[in-house]
Amino acid sequence: MQKNVAVLAGDGIGPEIMSEALKVLKAVEVKFGHQFALEFAPFGAGAYFSEGSPFPEKTKAVCDRADVILKGPVGLAVERMNEIPQEHRPEVGAILPLRKRYDTYANFRPVRLPKALAGFSPLKPEMIGEGIDILMIRELVGGIYFGKKTEGSATGMQYAEDECIYTDAQVRRVAVVAFDEARKRKCKMINIHKANVLATSRFWNAVVEDVAKLYPDVPYQSVLVDNAAYQLVIKPGMFNGVCLLENMMGDILTDQAGGVIGSLGLMPSACIGPEKSYVEPAHGSAPDIAGQNIANPYSMIGSVALMFDKCLNLPVEAKAVWDALFAVFERGYTTSELGSGYAPDKILSTSAFGDLVVKIIQE
Ligand code: IPM
Ligand code: MN
Repeated sequence: MQKNVAVLAGDGIGPEIMSEALKVLKAVEVKFGHQFALEFAPFGAGAYFSEGSPFPEKTKAVCDRADVILKGPVGLAVERMNEIPQEHRPEVGAILPLRKRYDTYANFRPVRLPKALAGFSPLKPEMIGEGIDILMIRELVGGIYFGKKTEGSATGMQYAEDECIYTDAQVRRVAVVAFDEARKRKCKMINIHKANVLATSRFWNAVVEDVAKLYPDVPYQSVLVDNAAYQLVIKPGMFNGVCLLENMMGDILTDQAGGVIGSLGLMPSACIGPEKSYVEPAHGSAPDIAGQNIANPYSMIGSVALMFDKCLNLPVEAKAVWDALFAVFERGYTTSELGSGYAPDKILSTSAFGDLVVKIIQE
């Protein structure tokens, strides 16, 4: 396979974890006989300072001509971010426009912790039970994130407003993705919502339940979001399967899920659009540990696995990367944020982790 890959390394730990992801990409390229042509482009807070925009026109052009986009985390330390005008901050000036540009409506966030790695979780091992294997699917281009934002004053009162809208088509297409995925994995589909309060959730549920009729073979469950947050730390195994969430609830519960398995460093993601998709870690740019070669590159490398699976239809290559990632841990290694109780020589640096993943792929 010959593909063009846009590489947006981003800010903070972005460049260092991206280097490891690219080592892995190279190893897969060689082992499986593919050709990935990389094109690098500035994106994020650094891009604002060097180019005057967090998502410069030339980066848009690079992304437009790429088959798939590999994106690192963005954002700098608070003091540096405060120098950036609101509309050019990387969240609203780069990430959301990237999602909108390619209409990446389905965000896959796998949450995986095998029983043998229960020690990574801050929960008691018995809470992890037989292990965690959840695929959270977050709607990514609708809802309150993209609704009209208003600030103003009326009759002397200052106010701010974020509009939250979901259309039938927006809900239907992501629900179809979630049910398809659950059917493929032969697991249940859990719809998470706040229908006891929100009109958008009641509407969301009506559409999801209409789609459910097309999937009589897929067990369907519906859970209120506050209860889901609670159950996720009490019996996370209850969510093993596919979970479907609207944009904002998905943002919150996927971070919480990262906490449950021990680190946001274990949270890769893929953002799928009708024509173009991109992958990114679900975490931020951790400016406090940038440049120290201690960041866990799992999320970035896992995002490469998701790119193979979800964007390029290369499931065998994806499995090779996943297996290598888990093999690192199975061989007794860990990373600094996960590794309490490990001997110092078992705690891998960012680059040593990437090197080991590559070595295992080559074995
Ligand atoms: C995420 C991030 C983004 C989001 C931010 C950086 C805009 O938290 O991908 O989860 O809220 O979607
Ligand atoms: Mn988030």
